[in-house]
Amino acid sequence: MSRIDRKSAIRVHRVMRNIEIIIGSQMGSAEYVAEQLAEQLDASEFSTHLHEQPDLNACQHPLWLVVTSTYGAGDYPDNLLPFIEQLTQHDDLSHIQFAVVGIGDSSYDTYNLAASNCAQLLTDKGAQQLLPVLKVDVQDEALPEDAAIAWLPELTQQLSLAAQ
Ligand SMILES: Cc1cc2nc3c(=O)[nH]c(=O)nc-3n(C[C@H](O)[C@H](O)[C@H](O)COP(=O)(O)O)c2cc1C
Repeated sequence: MSRIDRKSAIRVHRVMRNIEIIIGSQMGSAEYVAEQLAEQLDASEFSTHLHEQPDLNACQHPLWLVVTSTYGAGDYPDNLLPFIEQLTQHDDLSHIQFAVVGIGDSSYDTYNLAASNCAQLLTDKGAQQLLPVLKVDVQDEALPEDAAIAWLPELTQQLSLAAQ
């Protein structure tokens, strides 16, 4: 491989290890979980970009991690609604690979429905789901970030494969 080829291969490799972390949060729990995951990912081989007010146009890289709570009767948190609308209007997201973490409360019939619906929407648009949705139950987990961090090795394995 020539020096120029090697340099561009390294650049592609770095670009592929950028992760867009898309946050849906009303009271801050999901946001905190997203920040903790970002910290851990940044400390390993990845570079994360946190989106507190997600905008599709600002999500430049093809690896996405969505971290969202659920409200109402299975509704998305308010800050995620414009992004969901953008996804709905988009025809083709087949270049995207993603994982979703849901922070919810199993005392609701619509337990973690926003997380499931978001994964379904992305799949319907052609995106590839890397892992089943991680559903964290605030009834069981005093610290939801612990459950997400325990899941991180599974996620990083899939992200590393996706980034190759
Ligand atoms: C008004 C209200 C409605 C909720 N509705 C749901 C629901 O339908 N499904 C669910 O799994 N959790 C539901 N929850 C639980 C929240 O998703 C949970 O408390 C979560 O930790 C909030 O995260 P956030 O602080 O990031 O917004 C609801 C909570 C509130 C206060």
